[in-house]
Parts: sequence; structure tokens; C-alpha cells
Amino acid sequence: MTGYRISRLGLQGDGVAEGPVFIPLTLPGEEVEAEVIDGRARDVKIITPSDRRVAAPCPHFRSCGGCQLQHADDDFVAAWKTDVVRNALKAHGTETVLRPVVTSPAGTRRRAGFAARRTKKGAMAGFHGRASDTIIEIPGCLLLEPDVLAGRAVAEALALVGASRKTALSVMVTGAENGLDVAVSHGKPLDGPLRQQLAAICESMKLARLTWEDEVVAMREPPVHSIGAAQVSPPPGAFLQATLHGQQVLTDAVLEVTAGARRVIDLFAGCGTFSLPLAAHAEVHAVEGEAAMLASLDAGWRHAKGLKTITTEARDLFRRPLMPDELRKTGAVVLDPPRAGAEAQIAELIKSDVTKIAYVSCNPVTFARDAAVLVGAGWSADWVQVVDQFRWSSHVELVGSFTAPHMQG
Ligand SMILES: C[S@@+](CC[C@H](N)C(=O)[O-])C[C@H]1O[C@@H](n2cnc3c(N)ncnc32)[C@H](O)[C@@H]1O
Repeated sequence: MTGYRISRLGLQGDGVAEGPVFIPLTLPGEEVEAEVIDGRARDVKIITPSDRRVAAPCPHFRSCGGCQLQHADDDFVAAWKTDVVRNALKAHGTETVLRPVVTSPAGTRRRAGFAARRTKKGAMAGFHGRASDTIIEIPGCLLLEPDVLAGRAVAEALALVGASRKTALSVMVTGAENGLDVAVSHGKPLDGPLRQQLAAICESMKLARLTWEDEVVAMREPPVHSIGAAQVSPPPGAFLQATLHGQQVLTDAVLEVTAGARRVIDLFAGCGTFSLPLAAHAEVHAVEGEAAMLASLDAGWRHAKGLKTITTEARDLFRRPLMPDELRKTGAVVLDPPRAGAEAQIAELIKSDVTKIAYVSCNPVTFARDAAVLVGAGWSADWVQVVDQFRWSSHVELVGSFTAPHMQG
């Protein structure tokens, strides 16, 4: 065993000692002993604990790979997530106001990816263990909405009929307002008897929809999510924000940035998480790569009352960003790209006459890179709101507010 002193947390939430050596489940300032083989720490013994260390609320925390940061108090985690954003911005020379982190409560995650496999006695479902393929049963997971946690039993039932002997099923469970929306991959090929069994599970377990690989095999009713004044039924596997609480905080920030704009362009719009609330006040043009998501947005808008016009456009924004002439007469732009960020689109935005940008990001590193381009072109970085909808994990989400040079007093 060798002694280590933890100096900081890495971006995945592991403690980092000199080397660097990454030691999971440790905190800055702690003295630990560990055996490190091939860069992986084992048999970690905490010699001097941090005063920020707390007893993990979940009994499965040490073995389950779902959470990384239950061993630190909430204030420590909030400060660490703020520092991750501050340091990413600072690396590009950008400074801004960092608003206090808002954290989603426990028990509010509306989506879970269970692994499920057959066993000698039947089937089991849970999450993958920490850095392993083992499946850990987590009957009392503290993160998930209770309905979504109940989806574990659905995953077991599906594994019993549809998992091969060797491969675990991946079962994505999303809590819709009218039942669970379940999408399965790595299952046995569909045949007649399997289709019947899956339809029977959908009925008996009162699922809204069951999708096998990419095929909807049973649907009692289309899964419904209220977004603003609309009811949306996303295609299977579509992106949704992780918690309704986090979605509301992100939406409030987006509405604040875009307030007063009569026309807004929502880029990387998904199923309309921001377009639909925005349309209560402004005309919206929603652009997104996946046509099926836009179709669900459009259907939701058509059936809603009291919303201004929303137009949609399916487009690859990495290859074909909106050009300055397409951005004309747009007061504000909302950007919510995947982890890679929005480099190509930012390069066009700085040539446009757009006045405000609400940049929603799940990756502080690419956000900071893109923010630096805006700031370099004279935009002001007004503030950043960090939102922790992935409680107890190392994920960081945020909304940044930017104002164009010609709008600065
Ligand atoms: C982080 S999600 C945000 C979705 C939506 N704004 C929301 O909050 O629900 C990113 C979205 O970008 C879309 N996307 C990914 N790559 C894209 C690309 N190259 N062009 C356009 N859209 C893309 C994804 O399909 C996804 O809907």
C-alpha cells in the first residue's frame, strides 16, 4: 500500500493525487492509502478524512456505478461544480457572474438505463457496478422517481422473455405522465412468439409504449409529456431533460435571457423543451437534426391553445449552421447543443445581428471554448446559471447569457 494526498477532484469526480493518480470516492485534502495497479486504485483506505465527507445516503453507493459524489456534502458538490465551470472559462480568459447552483431534489430523475439479464433462477435488473460489468440491484435507488424505479421490475420481466443467455438487455425507462415509456436494445431478434410476450408485458405492466431495438412493438397510448402549454409525445429514445425540476430552472433562465424578443430561434431544439414555453411570448423557429423529434414538437404545438407560431426545420447544425442572413430579424437565439458544443454555429452568430444568446450546455469545456469566441468578438458574458439535475454525479449543466456588442450600453 502507498500513501497519497488528494489535491483536487478530476472532471469525472475522482480524487486526484500527485502522478496523477485517480482515486475514486476520495475528497481534496484527504490522506489515503491505496494499491494502484495499471492506474486503477484498489483497497482504498481513508487515513485522514475531509471535514466535507458525509455518510453516503444510499447503501449501494460503494458498489453501484450510478453515482460518484454521495460521499461529500451538498455545499461541497455545488462549489465544486461551480469551480469546474469557472476554471473552464478561466482557461480561455473569460470571467462572468456565476449564479448559485440550483440542485434537483433526490427522487426526481425521470429516466433510467437499467441493465437486465437472465439468471439461473429467473432474471435480475439494476445498474452496472462501479468500473465493472456486474449488475448491481438497487431496489431503493434514491435518484429515481418512484414510477421509474418501479421500471426495474419491467426490465426483469423483459429479460426473462427477451434476453439471450450471454448478453444483458439495455432497458431505457422514461416516466411519462400516462405510464412508462420503455425502449430496449441488445435483445433477442423479434419473432412471432416474442412479439406476443412483449405485448402481454406491455398490457399487464400498464406501460404506455414498448420499443424493441428501434421498433415500437406495443403501445397502450402514446407517452405524453406536458411542455409549456402543449402535450408532446416524443419518439422512442428522444432526448429529454433529466428532471422536470431541472427543466424548469433551465427554461426560466432561457426565458429570462430572451425576454422581450418577438422572434426567437431555438437551435438543437429537440422535442421543444424551450420552443414551446418560448412560444407563449414569441414566434419561434425550431431547428434540430432529428426530424422525428421536430414532428412531435409540431404535433404538440398544433394541438395547444394560445401559442404563437412555431416553424420547424430539420438540419445538421454542425455541417450547415444557420447563416447570418437566416438569423436576420431574430431578437434572440437559444442554443442547446450536444457535448461537442456549437463551434460552427457560433462562428456564424458572431457575424449576425442577433442581440441575445441563451447557451444551454452539458459540457463546460466546449461551452467555455464557444463562450471565448463570443467574448473575443465583443459579446458580453452576462452570467452563468449552473443547474445540477444530475445530483450526486460529476455532470454539470448550465445556461449562459450573452449580449451582442451593439446592445451593450
Ligand atoms: C442536449 S439535446 C437538447 C434538446 C432540447 N433543447 C431539450 O432541451 O430537450 C441536443 C439536441 O441536439 C440534437 N443534435 C445533435 N447533433 C445535432 C446536429 N449536428 N445538428 C442538429 N441537431 C443536433 C439532438 O438530436 C438533441 O435533440
